Amino acid sequence: MKIIVSLTDNRPDPWIEGLKAELPGAQIETWQPGAAQADHAVVWAPSQQLLDEQPQLHGLFNIGAGVDALLKLKVPPQTRIVRLDDAGMSVQMAEYVCHTLIRHFREFDVYEADAREGRWSYRKPRLRRDFPVGIMGLGVLGERVAKAVAQFEFPVLGWSRSPKAIDGVKVFSGEAQFDEFLSSTRVLVNLLPLTDATRGILNRNTLGKLRPGGYLISIARGAHLVEDDLIPMLDAGQLAGATLDVFQVEPLPADHAFWRHPKITVTPHGSARTLREESIAQIAGKIRAMEQGLPVSGVVDPVRGY
Ligand code: NAP
Ligand code: GLV
Repeated sequence: MKIIVSLTDNRPDPWIEGLKAELPGAQIETWQPGAAQADHAVVWAPSQQLLDEQPQLHGLFNIGAGVDALLKLKVPPQTRIVRLDDAGMSVQMAEYVCHTLIRHFREFDVYEADAREGRWSYRKPRLRRDFPVGIMGLGVLGERVAKAVAQFEFPVLGWSRSPKAIDGVKVFSGEAQFDEFLSSTRVLVNLLPLTDATRGILNRNTLGKLRPGGYLISIARGAHLVEDDLIPMLDAGQLAGATLDVFQVEPLPADHAFWRHPKITVTPHGSARTLREESIAQIAGKIRAMEQGLPVSGVVDPVRGY
């Protein structure tokens, strides 16, 4: 079995060593133009040339959860695209969202500002029931986040394409229930995949439907948010604040207004990082299963877009 590795922005060597340890006997190497045909590829942002030269790949393993960039390429028709299935990401997302939510709810950002001024000033306790948290996308990451937030006894709502039942979460589904989901939500968390149906879904119209004091946590893809709509809504008091991990252009340009806006917190696309060890173990397990003709989870439906 031959496996090629092509990882833009990542050092391939530790991945190759890790995969070799998991799959002894496999020939595993960095992809070079003109390389012989391989059975599988492990990729992040591969070139179109790789896909054109490797028409017989069985599996194309993405070392991230989101496959929006991969689906812009022309992938050979019989090649299965496989996304990372959690591999240590859902707990990171749960940490990020709970931290951000509690920082906002308990006004720790205000206490931090007070502390810088040496000011001893209590804030009036706020009620959890006034802070319903709505999670867009209840897949691998969204479901884990919803359950983690529910542990802190906030009302939790979720929105997905298909109906589902999750303990402690009021689930809405499809276009028909989107407005009701938004108008019941105060803290909105986006964990949707980026598809034709979800691009620009965070905009003046949808964010304007949130309950008063709405707060946005945008952690899936930058193109979900119509960036020009955000600051006017914050300045007009239509939203209380936003924490943003993903942006239309990354790295976020140094002169971007988001960096300096007092109601926006920026993090550098790190809400859930790919963890190499877990990811290698998962990908190797899936390659083994595929080679034995067994089903694997996380196979992307290119028509659906995730
Ligand atoms: P996933 O398992 O594929 O879940 C996607 C969820 O979104 C599903 O619940 C799906 O509904 C729902 N959905 C998709 N299209 C929809 C639509 N048009 N309307 C309503 N719901 C829709 O994805 P995941 O693993 O949770 O990851 C989500 C995204 O997070 C990734 O695609 C990636 O962009 C992003 N991400 C960001 C980071 C970061 O560090 N910032 C890290 C990892 C991932 P159904 O359940 O009905 O199919
Ligand atoms: C990161 O953004 C991922 O999709 O894994």
